[in-house]
Amino acid sequence: MKMLLALLWVLWSFFCLTECVKGNETRLERSDKCPEGIYTVSDGKHCCLCPKGYHLLSDCTSHLTDPKCEKCDLGTYLDHANQESKCEPCTSCGNNDNMKVTRQCTFSSDTECSCQDDHYCDKGDECKVCYSCNKCGELGIKVACNLTHDAQCKEKGPVITPGITALIVTLAVILFISVLSVYCLRKKKKFCFKSPENEEIPEKYSTLLEEEDLDLERFLPQISEILGCKWARQVVRREGSVPEAALDNITENNPNAEEKAFQFLKCWYEMHGRRGAYRYLQRNLKEMNQNAMAEKVQELVYRANNGGAEENGVV
Ligand SMILES: *[C@@H]1O[C@H](CO)[C@@H](O)[C@H](O)[C@H]1NC(C)=O
Ligand SMILES: *[C@@H]1O[C@H](CO)[C@@H](O)[C@H](O)[C@H]1NC(C)=O
Repeated sequence: MKMLLALLWVLWSFFCLTECVKGNETRLERSDKCPEGIYTVSDGKHCCLCPKGYHLLSDCTSHLTDPKCEKCDLGTYLDHANQESKCEPCTSCGNNDNMKVTRQCTFSSDTECSCQDDHYCDKGDECKVCYSCNKCGELGIKVACNLTHDAQCKEKGPVITPGITALIVTLAVILFISVLSVYCLRKKKKFCFKSPENEEIPEKYSTLLEEEDLDLERFLPQISEILGCKWARQVVRREGSVPEAALDNITENNPNAEEKAFQFLKCWYEMHGRRGAYRYLQRNLKEMNQNAMAEKVQELVYRANNGGAEENGVV
C-alpha cells in the first residue's frame, strides 16, 4: 500500500512539474477554448475575445466562454480580436485631398486609400492629403513622380557663356567663308572677286596672250562693229600714229558710222602694223574702262581661232 501511494505521489509530481508549475494556465486555455485570446472581467473571471469584425455586447457568464458579440455595423470595422463595445468608423479617402479608394472597407478591415493619378504623398503612414506632382515645365522630368515621391526635374541646361558664343560665331564665319570660297572657285572668278581696274584676262583666253602678233585684218569689220564709231576713233587716237587730219578725212568721206569705225581701225592697223596690234587694242580698251568691249573682241578672236574647242574645256 505504501508502495502504491509513493508511486501516485511520483506521478503527481511529474504531472505538476510539466503542466502546473511550468505551464501557464491561460496559455492552455487560450489555445484550447479561446483561439482568439481572452480578457479578464472585473470579478476575476476570464472571457474569450470577440473575433475581428465583431464587437462586444456583453461579457461571458461563465469562466472561459464566449461573450456576446455583434457584427460591426455597415461603415464600421474592427480588424483585430477584441473586447471593444463598438466598432471603428471606416476611413473615408477624402476626395478633396486628392485621394482615392484602393480597397473598400469591410467589417474586419479599414478602407485603403492612395493618391489619385499625378499626385503623391511622402509622409508615409501619416498621409492624409496628396499633393499634385511637379510637372517641371520646360526643364523636363528627370525622375517620374510616383505615389511616394514627387517628380525630380532636370537641372537647368548649361548657361551659354560669352566665350562659347564667340566660339560658335567664329566657327560659323569660318564655315561660311569656306563654303563661299569653294563656290567661287567652282564658278567664274569674276563673279566673286570682281575688280574692274585690273581685271585679269579670263583664263580661257590666256592662250591668246602668246599670240601677240595675231593678224587682226580679217576681224576688223567685226571689231569696228563692237567698238562703234566713237570708241574706234578714240582707241586709234590714243596711240597717235594716225595723224589727226587723216581721221578728219575719214570722218568727212564716210557718212555711215559703221564704215567710219571700220576705216579708223583699218587706217590704224596699217600704220601700226600687225606686231603687237592685238595687245595694244586690248590694253587700251581696258584703260578706257571698256572691259566689255575688250572681252567681246577677245571672244571673237578666240572663237575664230579655236572653233568649237571651248566646249571641250580649254582652260
Ligand atoms: C501566465 O498568464 C498570465 C495571464 O493570465 C500572463 O499575464 C503571464 O504573463 C503568463 N505567464 C507566462 C510565464 O506565460
Ligand atoms: C518612387 O520614386 C523614388 C525616387 O523618386 C524611388 O526611390 C522609389 O523607390 C519609388 N517608389 C516606387 C514605389 O516606385
